[in-house]
Amino acid sequence: MNKKIICLGIESTAHTLGIGIIDSKGKVYTNSKRQYVQKDTVSGIKPYDAAQFHYQNSIDLLKEALEDAKLTMKDIHVISFSKSPGLGPCLVVGATFARTLAIKYNKPIVGVNHCVAHLEIGKTLMKAKDPLFIYTSGANTQIIARDDNRYKILGETLDIGLGNLFDSFARDLGYGFPGGPILDQIYFKSNNYLDILPYSVKGMDIVYSGLLTSSQKLIGKYKNEDLVYSFMHTAYAMLLEVCERAISYTNKKEIMVIGGVAASKALKEMLTAFSKERKVKLFIPPVSACLDNGLMIADLGLKEYLSNGGQQLKDTTIDPTERTDQVIISW
Ligand code: ATP
Ligand code: FE2
Repeated sequence: MNKKIICLGIESTAHTLGIGIIDSKGKVYTNSKRQYVQKDTVSGIKPYDAAQFHYQNSIDLLKEALEDAKLTMKDIHVISFSKSPGLGPCLVVGATFARTLAIKYNKPIVGVNHCVAHLEIGKTLMKAKDPLFIYTSGANTQIIARDDNRYKILGETLDIGLGNLFDSFARDLGYGFPGGPILDQIYFKSNNYLDILPYSVKGMDIVYSGLLTSSQKLIGKYKNEDLVYSFMHTAYAMLLEVCERAISYTNKKEIMVIGGVAASKALKEMLTAFSKERKVKLFIPPVSACLDNGLMIADLGLKEYLSNGGQQLKDTTIDPTERTDQVIISW
């Protein structure tokens, strides 16, 4: 294809309101975002407050994104938005904004799956072909691979995600929030592995709550550095055991980490050793691409559009619960 197609993508599944712009040659024009911050940090995210934030910020963010990209709406060929999965009220704001722009400027529109977008942006930016994905954020920890025309979840945590696990233990140790980055620094202050923590892998799945409760009970009995090092090392070793099995099973030659925990230097160190040993290529995309953002929605919207064309407006509904493996990948 010679003509350059430019796609503007809108992300609004949860905390992040994002607008990204990318073209079919792979050029990134902007990845602008605004973040809803919950004032009370005890309860979970309040969907209607977050939706209100997205509603109030969407027009200003669009202006900001177009200015940053040095483009106008006339230059945009396709509009995409995250239609699934996510918080209903937040999804509605993004979908309505995208529909309004599509009607006003007479552009094709595409609704896409947020989780698949996380995977695809990593591939686009890192020029990876067909990696085994480790998707690890606050609540999610999943091992994912493409099988024919779908992404399949081969293994996952059965209770808490790695990010939340780290945040909980850091809070118990009296460190700030988010605790993941703090523990990740403390990790390198010790190499005294305390071989007393439970390790729980069940087939292709992982259970982290036992590791958390046992580690909590050991606070004050060992040096914090040794405890943190052993705790993180055990958590990552469980993840890598599942990856090892997934690589043998799928025969993938590449491995890619996405989600906020992809920023972890400790994980990078363990994965670098793993990938050398297993002779697989390791990709860790920049953090800005790993966290929720509009660019990944633009990227997936463009891929969908180039392969299937735009959607009918009546089909651009939201689906708060659509799973990764329900999406057909046709490129
Ligand atoms: P979810 O999307 O699963 O609901 P989220 O949006 O909060 O959760 P992300 O923003 O992808 O998730 O990731 C945030 C998590 O990543 C936090 O739990 C944080 O502690 C963890 N994290 C960030 N940096 C590091 C690091 N360097 N080492 C370990 N964990 C980290
Ligand atoms: Fe996400």
